[in-house]
Amino acid sequence: MPSGIYLDGNSLGVMPHAAQQRVQARMEQWRHHAALGWEDWYGLAESLSPSIARLVGAQPHEVIATGSITANLHALLSTLYRPEGARRVIVATSLDFPTDLYALGAWAERGGGELRLVPSRDGHTLHQGDLQAALRNDVALALFPTVLYRSGQRLDVPLLTAAAHAAGALIGWDAAHSIGAMPHDFHEVGADFAVWCHYKYLNAGPGAPGGLFVHERWHHLTPGLPGWWGNDKGTQFEMTPGYRKAGGAGAYQMGTPSILALAALEGALSVFGDLDMQQVRARSLALSDHLINLADRHLPEMAVVTPRAHHERGGHVSLAHPEARALSVALRRMGVVPDYREPDLLRLAPVALYNTETELDEVVRLLRTLLDSGQHRLMGKAAGVVT
Ligand SMILES: Cc1ncc(COP(=O)(O)O)c(C=O)c1O
Repeated sequence: MPSGIYLDGNSLGVMPHAAQQRVQARMEQWRHHAALGWEDWYGLAESLSPSIARLVGAQPHEVIATGSITANLHALLSTLYRPEGARRVIVATSLDFPTDLYALGAWAERGGGELRLVPSRDGHTLHQGDLQAALRNDVALALFPTVLYRSGQRLDVPLLTAAAHAAGALIGWDAAHSIGAMPHDFHEVGADFAVWCHYKYLNAGPGAPGGLFVHERWHHLTPGLPGWWGNDKGTQFEMTPGYRKAGGAGAYQMGTPSILALAALEGALSVFGDLDMQQVRARSLALSDHLINLADRHLPEMAVVTPRAHHERGGHVSLAHPEARALSVALRRMGVVPDYREPDLLRLAPVALYNTETELDEVVRLLRTLLDSGQHRLMGKAAGVVT
């Protein structure tokens, strides 16, 4: 663990020993075998699919570790966004992570459609009725986050998936803030596709390969952005001009994967092994309940913008305060790593696998001391923060 109290696992998870060991082992293979290592590395991404599938509730052939959320979104949209007649709109939300909006906006424009953003009524959360109302019969495709990156609000995946399908639209999910923190059921729910990263709750390291899910009902489609790594594994090295796509989600790979990055993911996934994700979720909720109770009791001037109901909440808790940035700087000086999001949010992620109630007690105590003394303003000023 990094020294101090680490509450930023929803930005970058901590390093599992197993990740370090697998990277070292793959480095040794490289050292001793160089190109011959590919005999072992060739199917490495596919070999991780059963573990990943378990975490997102999918069949192994419906997932693959590759790319990044942004690249995977482009690959999936190039294939699954098929505007036709009056059905051209893409629906997303005004609270989405910007990269998703950049990708969706570009495809909507290319498809002669429009990007319809569901607004937020309070600037932090989304109203279910507004999301459903946006899913009209002019919608070709919708993409929603499973958990909002700022407020930590969790959306109802089964309900919204059904609503999109009832409107005749496809629906995908950005699961960056839920994978590794709670169970998923993408196959059963019938989601068309999903994207996520492995560097947050999954702990696979900075810039770890991303992940994607494509429901098997779409496996007959040829990826819009094909590459030789998505070719059928049996014929990839025949090097023929014709692209023969791999059978499942593996077809969405493009170029040669980073084996060292996959090695870290390999190790990180082994930590989850056969962990019961219901138990991980229960522990996560117990920790965030504890934090919310502490904040209510001791930090009345900080508003808890994360919904309180368990079914409406992801893994992190967001506290709003006009001086959140200075508070974040001060906490770092005091050995706590929180996360700050413009303009006024302190995000704290108590992670089931490695954070404790005692750490949360200490962080809330430090915040109270800062707010009482105003010390954070000085520390913030020294760091160039205008409060
Ligand atoms: C919800 C969400 N989507 C997308 C991204 C970024 O995606 P990428 O892996 O392409 O950098 C993040 C990064 O934190 C995120 O939180």
